[in-house]
Order: sequence, then structure tokens, then C-alpha cells
Amino acid sequence: MKPMYSRIAGTGRYLPERVLTNQDLEQMIDTTDEWIRSRTGIERRHIAADDQTTADLAELAARQALDAAGLEPEAIDFIVVGTTSPDTVFPNVGCLVQERLGIRGCPAFGIEAACSGFIYALSIADRFVATGGAQHALVIGAETLSRMVDYKDRATCVIFGDGAGAVVLEPSAEQGIISCHLRADGHYKDLLYHPYGVSKQRKPEDTEGPYIHMRGNEVFKVAVRSLESIVDETLAANDLEKGSIDWLIPHQANLRIIQLTAKRLGMPMDKVVLTLKDQGNTSAASVPMALDVAVRDGRVQRGDMVLLEAFGGGFTWGSALVRY
Ligand code: COA
Repeated sequence: MKPMYSRIAGTGRYLPERVLTNQDLEQMIDTTDEWIRSRTGIERRHIAADDQTTADLAELAARQALDAAGLEPEAIDFIVVGTTSPDTVFPNVGCLVQERLGIRGCPAFGIEAACSGFIYALSIADRFVATGGAQHALVIGAETLSRMVDYKDRATCVIFGDGAGAVVLEPSAEQGIISCHLRADGHYKDLLYHPYGVSKQRKPEDTEGPYIHMRGNEVFKVAVRSLESIVDETLAANDLEKGSIDWLIPHQANLRIIQLTAKRLGMPMDKVVLTLKDQGNTSAASVPMALDVAVRDGRVQRGDMVLLEAFGGGFTWGSALVRY
């Protein structure tokens, strides 16, 4: 019989040891701790060591999630990694993690949807597990965005950090992942982007540096609108009232964006999981890392109704309603 639902069996995270504080940034660029804290809510972020890659971070988060689920790597039969900062063009980070875990044969792939990468990945893995196409899916969000940040650009370098978060999904007859909602609008491609890749390479006459470029103020406005509409859509699709959500686990991009989304849901901020202050914006890693923090410190309990949401370059955005 088909299971109907997937549920989260375990969570994990990994943050690199090196910390870059607002005070460190004051020594590097024309900024102040006060400006960064008041505009973003960020105080420090973690940066991968020179010899650490996205797959290194992803592997450590995945091993923690496997431990939490009480599973050996051999149990995993599906791997998907949301990342915009893969080690190599190919093999994808999913394959690299698969090899490190010593398992073979199962599908392993990456999803490139910027900061929404984990929500996109979760949505796909959920459909496989809920329909019997996989038994135990490893879903990871992992980034080393520091590798594509210009540490001379004060508009972006104060925001981003590195990290990885992971969950293991298992089949369930009871509600687990209840619904996922994915959206994108490529018309906003010029507000937040990295100008080069593989097919489009930098030419000598190109003036833009090979870094993240962002029109922060405009991103802010679209992010707020899009996230308000996705939370409305998620509640409506499930016939839920605002008060039915126990925990909001938002993408950690900007404290003011998070506060506005919480307001839309009528949620007090003590029901919102925040990691932004200590981690900055870790793109696809931020939602699974925040979930893991709240599971491990005992805030999120089995049976709680949890709303995950994210917004990122593309633009892409999405949500997942989860009975933990
Ligand atoms: N330190 C000091 N001043 C800075 C600065 C910094 N790190 N970065 C920008 N400024 C300056 C600007 O140059 C500008 O100066 P000016 O008025 O003399 O031109 C001023 O601060 C205001 O800039 P603005 O971009 O309008 O600020 P803001 O209030 O919109 O805050 C962000 C900037 C980036 C914090 C904010 O727009 C934001 O968080 N946007 C969303 C970004 C985001 O979430 N991206 C990821 C999506 S996944």
C-alpha cells in the first residue's frame, strides 16, 4: 500500500568554525555594526575554511540527520541537494555526498533555485516518498556563498554566510509534509544575480565582477509581497486559520522581512525561529538549519504544525506546511 505522506524522521546541520563578525567587516569596508544590525538583524556569519567545500558541509549535516533518524546510510535511496554553490559543475553535490556516505545506485541530484533550493528539494523528495517511489530521502540545503561574494561590496558582503542543513524523510500513513507550494518569476532576474556561469562566461570587456549583485531595496519589497502571498496560499490550500501554525521557520534573509511575514500570519515573534543574528543569510541552508536548531533545543515537538518558507534569486519562492 502506498504511504500517502512523507514525514521528517531526523534533522541535522553543520556550520563552519570560522566566524566573520560585524566588527571584522568594519575593518574591511565602510560600514558599522549598528547599520548592519539595524537594517538586517545580522551580527555574525560563518565562513567555510579555504579547503572546505559545499559537499564537505553537506556531508556533515547529512550524517547528523541520519543519526537523528536512527538510520545507517544504506537506508537512503534518494538524495537531493539544494545549492547554488556546488563544488563542481558535475558530479553534482548529491553524487559527492552519496560517494562519501558509501552508498551506490540511488538517484542523487542538485536543485538550483538559490535561497529556495531546500524548499524545492523537499517538495520533490516528498512526492517520491509519499507515492512509494523512495523509502528514505536525504534532503539537503548546503552553500558556500562566501565564494561568490565580493568582500569589497558592502551591499552584499554583510549579508551572506556558509552552512548546511539536512533532513531525512520517511514514509508515513499520518500527516507529515502536508503541502508544498513553489513559485518563480524570472522577470526579476536583474534584481539579484551572479552574472556568469558555464555557458555564459566572463569576457575581457565585461565590467561586472564575478560576484553576487543585488538591488537590495527592490529585492526587499518583492520578497515581502511574495512571502505574504505564499503564506496566504498555503493556509487557504489547507483550509487553515492564521492561528493554526505553531512555528514559522522562515528563510533567514532579513529580520524585517521575517517580521512582516510573521505579522501577516498573526504570529508573535517568539513563535518564529530565528538564526539570522548568528548565521546571516545562508541561502538554501538557512531553513533546514533553523529547523534543526528548533528541533534540537526542544521548541519544535512531534505533532507541531510548522510552516517553512523561503525566497531567493530568480526570483524563486515557496513554502512547506509540515506536521513535525
Ligand atoms: N553599511 C553602511 N551603509 C550601507 C551598507 C552597509 N553595509 N550597504 C548599503 N549602505 C548604504 C547605501 O549605500 C545607501 O547609501 P545612500 O543613501 O548614501 O545611497 C544607504 O545605505 C541605504 O541603502 P539601501 O540599499 O536603500 O538600504 P536598505 O534599507 O534597503 O537596506 C538591505 C539594504 C540590503 C539591508 C535591504 O535592502 C535588504 O535586506 N534587502 C533584501 C535583501 C535580501 O534579503 N536578499 C537576499 C534575498 S534571498
